[in-house]
Amino acid sequence: MSLDKKLNKILIIDFGSQFTQLIARRIREQGVFSKIVSHKKVKSKNIDNSIKGIILSGGPLNVYEINKYSFDRKIIKKEIPILGICFGHQILSKLNGGRVKQSKYREFGLVKINKKKDSILIKNFFNRENKSKVWMSHADQVSKLPKNFTVIASSQNSKFAIIENKKKKFYGVQFHPEVTHTENGKKLINNFIFLICKIKKNWSPKDQKLKLIQEVRKIVEKNKVICALSGGVDSSVVAQLLNKAIGKKLYCIFVNTGLLRKNEEMQVLKTFKKKLKINLIYVNAEKEFLRKLKNISDPEKKRKIIGNLFISIFEKYAKKIKNVKFLAQGTLYPDLIESKSVTGSQTSKIKSHHNVGGLPKKMKLKLVEPLKYLFKDEVRKLGSELNLSKEIISRHPFPGPGLAIRMPGIITKEKINILKEADFYFIQALKDQNLYNEIWQAYAALLPVKTVGVMGDNRTYEYLCLLRAITSEDGMTADFYDFKKTFIQMISNKIINNIRGINRVVYDITSKPPSTIELE
Ligand code: XMP
Repeated sequence: MSLDKKLNKILIIDFGSQFTQLIARRIREQGVFSKIVSHKKVKSKNIDNSIKGIILSGGPLNVYEINKYSFDRKIIKKEIPILGICFGHQILSKLNGGRVKQSKYREFGLVKINKKKDSILIKNFFNRENKSKVWMSHADQVSKLPKNFTVIASSQNSKFAIIENKKKKFYGVQFHPEVTHTENGKKLINNFIFLICKIKKNWSPKDQKLKLIQEVRKIVEKNKVICALSGGVDSSVVAQLLNKAIGKKLYCIFVNTGLLRKNEEMQVLKTFKKKLKINLIYVNAEKEFLRKLKNISDPEKKRKIIGNLFISIFEKYAKKIKNVKFLAQGTLYPDLIESKSVTGSQTSKIKSHHNVGGLPKKMKLKLVEPLKYLFKDEVRKLGSELNLSKEIISRHPFPGPGLAIRMPGIITKEKINILKEADFYFIQALKDQNLYNEIWQAYAALLPVKTVGVMGDNRTYEYLCLLRAITSEDGMTADFYDFKKTFIQMISNKIINNIRGINRVVYDITSKPPSTIELE
């Protein structure tokens, strides 16, 4: 029997919301197992007694077109607590005799809601004035209360912002409790799973590890897998996970692109080859990368060239190793959201992350991406469960295209050497001052302008170094780190005094959005 079937769980029925994975994450972080199924696939006959509660997600559909899409309505006849979120709230209302229509005023963003009545769902959710800030994102709304439901809270535009049928344990919320912008969203979800569904904690990073190992074995079977190892947290966790799952059938390929941080090759070889005894192939492709990138300054071109070269190297080694069927990658959930465009529209693509959007369509290897539904902090916990060292787990993210995207303009060996040094001094200073772990990601970049300076009595005309340090939860939004003036002064002096080629240092104070974390 698979691990899933044995475990009590919360079932999340997905109607296509971009936040569905966030619902699952909120439940996982409470130590409870959850499973996501598409509304098209879930059947009431498969709802067994391991399912202690159901959450209906949001989604882009319209409830009044219910006949156009498939959903087994008998599910709501089961005696299981249900929480409907946004669209889920609307469909739950409709199926219980309520009415849904397009609302006069759309509600997007932060909205204040007012408590009307007590409910177990809202324990500790409202403030003393019986108000709470929630994140709304809807154009339709419930216009007639379903039978036997009562109103728990309302906003100015949504009379039925929270509703309940206490007897049946059905709850509907028009807003998104799973996003961090909803003030006490986590509390509301916890009240649903623990106080209403009465599920017990049953899920830990160890269970997560075992489940992922089981899944990888099932996908890979007897075939060989190559893994693109960069030495960053994500690919290191994938490599170690696959090492545990399939041992010698795994071949890690570490490509030295010449665009890595200072001493990176040595550290990766020491950890993975010597310490963890993973099958590791070291490919020095420095010259090839620099040749292909010569005179290229367009960011997307850089990314595509690097992505394609990576894949052709992997394919070449896959042929050499023979019988390789899979390529393992450390793709995370936020990478998928940003690269693939959640809404499906072309325009919302931000960048081609080299391990997602940059892949050529004709790639011959099948992908194994065991972390694709996880967020960075969850990957770190998993890494620690896999006995990876603290040093690897707590490393700041480093993008696949490496220093190429931290050097706007053309790439030269001279610029790479200057940048490697600047980055090294910056990161070392953060570590020395115990700031490294307070910061989500930090790096130095080299801007393609030279400015005039004076050192000693001499004029200098050298590059501009940009430092970036941000705080973030998952890399999807970020704020700049507020350094003390003394630190900024110290690091600026250190870089200029020690590195020939830089005579000016600036600190990037933009958040994401409007900027992105990387420069390109
Ligand atoms: P942006 O610049 O999009 O970065 O705000 C968000 C996070 O993603 C990392 N990043 C990448 N990671 N391949 C990767 O593996 C890539 O092509 C890539 N581009 C950006 C970035 O460092 C940050 O942590």
